[in-house]
Amino acid sequence: MRCLLAIVVLASTQFCFADKTKYPTEFLWGVAFSAHQTEGSIEGGGDNSDWYEFELGSKNGKPNIKHAHNTAIAVDHWNRFEEDFDLAKNLGAETLRTSIAWDKIEPKPGEFNKDVIEHYKKVLNALKKRGIKPMLAFHHFVHPKWFHEIGGWTNDESPKWFLRYVDYVVRELGDLCDLWITFNEPVLQVAFGYMIGITPPLLYNPWKAFDAAWNIARAHRMAAYRIHQLQGPSPNGRGSDGKLRGVGIAQSTQIFEPADPKNPDDVKVVSEIEELVNWSFLRSIEEGHLRMQFPKSLVSSLLGGINRPLPQDDIPMGETFQDWIGINYYSRYVIKKSSWSPIGLVWVTPQINLGDNGWQIYPTGLEKLLVKASEFKKPLVVSENGLADAIDSRRPKFIRDHLKHLDHAIEKGIDVRGYYFWSLLDNFEWLDGYEKRFGLVEIKYGDNLERVPRPSFNVYKNEISERRR
Ligand code: BGC
Repeated sequence: MRCLLAIVVLASTQFCFADKTKYPTEFLWGVAFSAHQTEGSIEGGGDNSDWYEFELGSKNGKPNIKHAHNTAIAVDHWNRFEEDFDLAKNLGAETLRTSIAWDKIEPKPGEFNKDVIEHYKKVLNALKKRGIKPMLAFHHFVHPKWFHEIGGWTNDESPKWFLRYVDYVVRELGDLCDLWITFNEPVLQVAFGYMIGITPPLLYNPWKAFDAAWNIARAHRMAAYRIHQLQGPSPNGRGSDGKLRGVGIAQSTQIFEPADPKNPDDVKVVSEIEELVNWSFLRSIEEGHLRMQFPKSLVSSLLGGINRPLPQDDIPMGETFQDWIGINYYSRYVIKKSSWSPIGLVWVTPQINLGDNGWQIYPTGLEKLLVKASEFKKPLVVSENGLADAIDSRRPKFIRDHLKHLDHAIEKGIDVRGYYFWSLLDNFEWLDGYEKRFGLVEIKYGDNLERVPRPSFNVYKNEISERRR
């Protein structure tokens, strides 16, 4: 009888919790943003950055950034970080992803600004006080100006410059942080900055772009090795508390689908572009050999690709270079083979279910990408996922639907350790300036940058709390 009772009690408890997937206790729920998009460039000396210079410039009489916006003040996170972390705490965030500004920390080659490091110590202590685990990126698209003046990532010395900065930061901030991103979306950095030249350093040169990718891959490996030297290993991406620890890349991943699934050319070009954009860089880091290839077309066969080993002298053999893999996911693209297009394909995504910036909302994609990324046999973390939606009419559903697919991935046994919503706050959206709004919290730009949580703030808050054990 007692046994029967126990079964009934157990079954009813299961039933109570059956509506939401319960996540492992070590799973981290978080929010994300980056330094340049929020801090303000003037404070801390960020007017030393390549991006700030670009923001103030124009081309053919047109400002480089929509509405001639710039990051002089941004959302003043530099001064208002306590207030922003209170919001994160109120949301129930256990982790917060941001970055540190290389341009502020190292305004001249090899010269570090002590005041800036002291500021970041205060920032990290403010997170610690609230029990929020930081995840810090060393590089989120922005560089010190001097870096480009001596060739940027096309200079084969550049991995050493990056390593010097990483080494300094980990020695200074390592007591307060053990979760690092070396590069945010390195493939997009190379594509936009070096291949099609729409962001700094404005190069339009595929060969230099491949050199840049090669040096960034080297820089990642050298930095990961140094972080392990300074902080010790993170076996299976865990710290002693079982939570995510160590170093990885936040990789931009997209869903690509063929316009006609029965057309073998469309299917093939999908697999080629998916490999190039989503996976080739991560694979190269693992294999010690950079292989990136455009889908075949008349132009791309002239450009070729890159198939070059990463120098063995950079780091010792047998090192782990990615303790985990970060998946940034936003959208789906439908594509068609085209031999005339420079990259062998054209985009034909149906213009339905779009965010304010035209990116298609496709929640199933998150699950598909996590399944695919699990082939790397590494812990995974959703390092960005979010939506441009100024009036917050689609964000609540976006959150619920994406988390449903995250649930499925967890139920399938995929080793996902965390989820970071992009973004806690509206912020500087690169070429779009402040026009596109990604925040759970609205920034009143005309009203002293007041922070006002949107309805989706409470939606995410509830979704998190329902999934906690
Ligand atoms: C970038 C963020 C950006 C977000 C939305 C991501 O690719 O890492 O910096 O704000 O997309 O555009």
